[in-house]
Amino acid sequence: MSAVIDIQGVEKTYKRRIKALRGVDLSVGQGEIFGLLGPNGAGKSTLVKIMMTVISPSKCTGTVLGEKIGDKNTLQQIGYLPEHHRFPAYLTGRQVLEYFGAMSGIQRKQRKAKASELLELVGMESWHKDKLGSYSKGMRQRVGLAQALMNDPKLVVLDEPTDGVDPSGRRDIRNILSHLKDEGRTIFLNSHLLSELEMVCDRVAIMVHGLVRTQGTIDELTADQSGFVITTKEPIPEHASSELNSLSLPEQAEQTSADTIAFKTDDATKVQPAIDTLRKHNIVIQSAGFKRPSLEDLFMQVVSTDHGDKPGAISGARSSKKGAKS
Ligand SMILES: Nc1ncnc2c1ncn2[C@@H]1O[C@H](COP(=O)(O)OP(=O)(O)O)[C@@H](O)[C@H]1O
Ligand SMILES: [Mg+2]
Repeated sequence: MSAVIDIQGVEKTYKRRIKALRGVDLSVGQGEIFGLLGPNGAGKSTLVKIMMTVISPSKCTGTVLGEKIGDKNTLQQIGYLPEHHRFPAYLTGRQVLEYFGAMSGIQRKQRKAKASELLELVGMESWHKDKLGSYSKGMRQRVGLAQALMNDPKLVVLDEPTDGVDPSGRRDIRNILSHLKDEGRTIFLNSHLLSELEMVCDRVAIMVHGLVRTQGTIDELTADQSGFVITTKEPIPEHASSELNSLSLPEQAEQTSADTIAFKTDDATKVQPAIDTLRKHNIVIQSAGFKRPSLEDLFMQVVSTDHGDKPGAISGARSSKKGAKS
């Protein structure tokens, strides 16, 4: 897997006192959908702006599409949807796309064709003659996404693409992202919407207080907490519990509460002796199945074990107000 984004030790301090990034290492492979997850103020947009050369890092080494971070020429191969973007309200959806196409140096005929193709992709062909001022937030996000694709990018960087988009619009965006992946593009997206990332991303990183705390596939990140769980209708009586203990069940079976036994295995056959024992004692089994923590569970664990500074603040300095609304 060749890395499309490979960065190490990214630091950014705003106004000499707000430590937005405190040494971020990140690697995104070719053709992946990679999700950067974190609470407001974690530093996600700051990292994106550094990759997009909008702001310069205080410290950073690494590459994007094989070129040193900060290289302006690489931007020709990247599509970017900024957070809180504001395209001029007097332009129509089509004009926005053609405008960005022109800025990317695409010839007039080609950019008209590309704009039509992308308006259809994002489901905006019926509104292409209407001005952005009359669009809903969700419609503006769709046009924003289309705009990011005008230059046929190898890497698509989306900062909160589903911000303000209703559930059916979010599903449409997820489908578009899968389509882009099928075309071989790499997608890097920021989101604070956990379920969103879980559904669409190949790999995720969780960022808190300017540091990436964990990154990997959702399966990798949840592997040691996944397994079969049996719950019973009534608390398991003492005599059944001790018989279960004497079974020497494999894969570290553990009675995690009065009516729950958890196994660290994904092999159903290995949990059958426990079920047999419970049934022998006429204990009613309420549920039995494979469970893995959700991204939200994982996220809460990471955030709750984070003992970093307050968001963005260097100790002793006043913390920024912007963090709360960004
Ligand atoms: N231009 C700026 N000047 C000063 N502080 C900023 C600026 N932009 C962001 N910050 C601060 O940096 C931290 C990270 O912000 P941001 O990257 O926007 O986080 P996220 O996108 O994860 O919500 C926050 O504390 C925010 O207030
Ligand atoms: Mg942000």
